Amino acid sequence: MNVPELLAGKRVCVCAGSGGVGKTTTSAVIALGMAAQGLKVAVITIDPAKRLAAALGLEQLSNDLAQVPAERFAAAGLEVKGELWASMLDPKRTFDELIDAAAPTPERAGAIKENLVYQQISGAVAGSQEFTAVSKLYELFGDDRFDLIVLDTPPSRHALDFLEAPRRLNAFLEGRALQAFLKPTGVGLRMVGLGVAPLVGALKRITGVDLISDLTHFFGLLGPMTDTFSARARAVEVLLRSEATAFLLVTSAQDGPIAEASWFRDALEREGMAFCGAVVNRFHHDLSGGADRASVEAALAAALADPELAARVAENFADYGVLAARDEANLARLEADLRSQPVLPVPQFDSDIHDVVGLLRVHRFLFGSDSEREALIAGLLS
Ligand SMILES: Nc1ncnc2c1ncn2[C@@H]1O[C@H](COP(=O)(O)OP(=O)(O)OP(=O)(O)O)[C@@H](O)[C@H]1O
Ligand SMILES: [Mg+2]
Repeated sequence: MNVPELLAGKRVCVCAGSGGVGKTTTSAVIALGMAAQGLKVAVITIDPAKRLAAALGLEQLSNDLAQVPAERFAAAGLEVKGELWASMLDPKRTFDELIDAAAPTPERAGAIKENLVYQQISGAVAGSQEFTAVSKLYELFGDDRFDLIVLDTPPSRHALDFLEAPRRLNAFLEGRALQAFLKPTGVGLRMVGLGVAPLVGALKRITGVDLISDLTHFFGLLGPMTDTFSARARAVEVLLRSEATAFLLVTSAQDGPIAEASWFRDALEREGMAFCGAVVNRFHHDLSGGADRASVEAALAAALADPELAARVAENFADYGVLAARDEANLARLEADLRSQPVLPVPQFDSDIHDVVGLLRVHRFLFGSDSEREALIAGLLS
């Protein structure tokens, strides 16, 4: 099993997973590999490391898609038969574009973008990255230049946050409860009358933010535009549930994330979304070839002519063996839990994946056949 088989017939691949497991790396490799096979692929990356961005030709932060020159990979030995397009999600700009598209006049759009509440939401508030990521996905889905769109997801504690964050933000933007609260005749002002006013006033003096009036103004400006957001949110939900979309879980082989993986699969299924498999990244394969610590130390002592160094290296190797045993056990557990859904391990490499050579290293594991992968793992042993 490999990525092309997992993604057969799909137009969207969402790479989800908890923080730091390798979502951005995996997204880039999947997009590259599918483009190599002849597809026109767009990848939306989120906060890629500077060097990875440079490897994808994304020198400056850009919301726009740029085609990655195929020569870059040809030089490293991978022919890209299709097209690879990459972009970095810029939540603030995506949000601004959303407002521009939805506002009835440019003046209204301008007023919203100047509003402090808007600036907070579009910039920093949790959920805005997810909201804009799916929004961008939806936009590209409608663009028939692309056969496949690969979506990286923002760092989060749990893979499922990605699904919930846009809903939360949308609920806020719809803001019916809040709007009722803020109406001049609403409960809000009555409460202000009851003594919240001094507090709000003090807040305004200290922070310069006039919370109540900014919020009222913000929702006033948004007005019927919230219908546009709601419609888009509904369309995105449909897209995420469609046959065309596959969710790929990226995880590490540690106990917690492995336990969460089958929970994630179940949650997706409950939501009616298609889980297509898991990438178990930074996997430690057993490289001992069955040798125990004492024989490793003896062999090293003979080769290094430094018994102390040999002992230290042997100890390190034994520590690695403990990790490998844990990873192998967790992989077997995950495979049993997921039953028919495939699990693709990618080894822990000895350096970060920040350049073309690194991407190609991972590529071999995600795009090779089972037997090619076994040969690669055997190669790690030698
Ligand atoms: N198999 C691997 N071997 C060695 N290093 C790896 C491997 N996979 C990823 N890395 C490195 O681990 C770091 C985290 O990877 P990446 O940025 O892809 O994770 P992420 O899930 O996108 O993180 P975040 O949740 O912060 O967005 C990067 O420096 C990357 O180069
Ligand atoms: Mg990332």
